[in-house]
Formats: sequence, structure tokens, C-alpha cells
Amino acid sequence: MSTIRTRKKTTVQTIVAKKANGEKITCLTAYDYFIGRLLDQAGIDIVLVGDSAANVVHGFKTTIPITLDVMIAHTAAVSRGVERALLVTDMPFLSFQPSIETAIISCGRCMKEGFAEAVKIEGGIEMVPTVKRLIECGIPVMGHIGLTPQSIHRFGGPKVQAREERSRNYLKESALALEEAGCFSCVLELMEANTAAEITSSLTTMATIGIGAGRECDGQVLVTNDLLGLREPEFTPKFLKQYADLPPIISEAVSKYINEVKSGTYPGPEHSY
Ligand code: KIV
Repeated sequence: MSTIRTRKKTTVQTIVAKKANGEKITCLTAYDYFIGRLLDQAGIDIVLVGDSAANVVHGFKTTIPITLDVMIAHTAAVSRGVERALLVTDMPFLSFQPSIETAIISCGRCMKEGFAEAVKIEGGIEMVPTVKRLIECGIPVMGHIGLTPQSIHRFGGPKVQAREERSRNYLKESALALEEAGCFSCVLELMEANTAAEITSSLTTMATIGIGAGRECDGQVLVTNDLLGLREPEFTPKFLKQYADLPPIISEAVSKYINEVKSGTYPGPEHSY
């Protein structure tokens, strides 16, 4: 029997247990059926339908413009390819901030229409009442603190967090409050590694998933497009490791196709009925 067949379904409890056992947690983003299926088959723990879809799928400069309907459509597509990984949807800007009721309705739609098994919401201690109510409603929540991209205009750019004492205290206090509120995990984005390590060791039931937050987090997440080289060439943050370079492979295949169609080599007799 293959490894894939014997792997069990990942749940929020699996993620918390991995933290308790000191087992690293892996997370990558997906926005469509096929990539969702490839990540799942490769053995990823968490597939995140990130609002980074705004950047890498839709070509926006920030994550702010993506809508709830579009995120639900991406989630539903990914859900059809994911069998074993935990499927988490990123709640887009203003789909959860206006009120607790708005948050319940928006997150509920991601589960009912997109088949998400958990949601991710950006924000620290100020989001605790919303997180508590969502969890009471049966919606598992992944937190997200540090550089939260939906607040990019407030930050004034992608600035590394936890460099000042005030920021460090806010992040530490927020992590503890989100754990207490019941989050099963929390993304720590773009922050000094020492603070991320301190936060991680201060928590027992909320796993930290780092991106640009050093190696001491309980797990790591990357945007899949970035890992495959499908990114703007000028986007080269220090934390990013590119594991493959797909653009030249795609360009070469497309050029070959264009040339063969133009020269009449494709379709050949073997492609005709
Ligand atoms: O939208 C996203 O892809 C994210 C991850 C980078 C954590 O929020």
C-alpha cells in the first residue's frame, strides 16, 4: 500500500498533537484544484487557500481587493483536490472585521460553500472576541500576527515586526490571548526570529506557523507560487527559498508549441482521428 493511502486525514487535533510531539508542521498555499491535489499527494499537512491569490493569481499589488466570493470559489476548487491535508481558507479584508456577526456569516460561507475545514483571520488580541465566538460556532480558527498584509498601508510597507519593545509586547500578548481564545495554530509573519522562538515556546496548544519568522516555529508556510518561481522577479524577500524555477520550463514549452503549430508539425498524424 502506498504512503498516500496509509496517511490519515489531518485535523486541527493532528496539528496540535504535532506541536506537542515536536513534529514540524508543513503548510503551503493553493488556489486551484490541480495544485491542491499535488500538495495533498506530496504529503503537506495544511493547504491554505491564501488571500495571496490576490497577488499571485489575480495580479493585484496587495491582498486588499480580493472578495469573499472569489475566495470561496478558490476554496471550493482546491477542496476537490484535497483529501488528507487540513483545508484552511484565509478570510479576506473586511469579511470578518466589521462585526462578530459578519465574521460568523463569512466564515460559515467558506465552510458551507467552499468546504473549508478551518479559517485564518489576521489580527492579534483585538480579534479575541471574534475568535471565541467563531470557535463556539464550530469554526476552527488559525490566527495570523506579525506583518499582517491586509494592514499593509498601516504598516507603511513590509516591515519586519518585533524590532521595538512595544511591537514585541503586542505580539507576545496577542499570541497568548489567541491561544487562550482557542486558536489551533497561528501564522507568525515577518518578525524577528528571537521573538517568534519566544512566542513558540510560551504556547502549548496553539502551533506557530512561520513565514519570515525563523526556524524555531512549530511549522513553516510559503506561497506555493514563490517556491516554484512563479513570482515577480523583484520579489526576493530574505526568507524566501525557491525550490524550482518553472518560468523557463513554461516559456520553453509554449515557444515549442507556437513553433510547431506555425510550422505544421503539430498536430502530427498521431494526434489526428
Ligand atoms: O495569503 C497567504 O498566502 C498567507 C500566507 C503567506 C500565510 O497569508
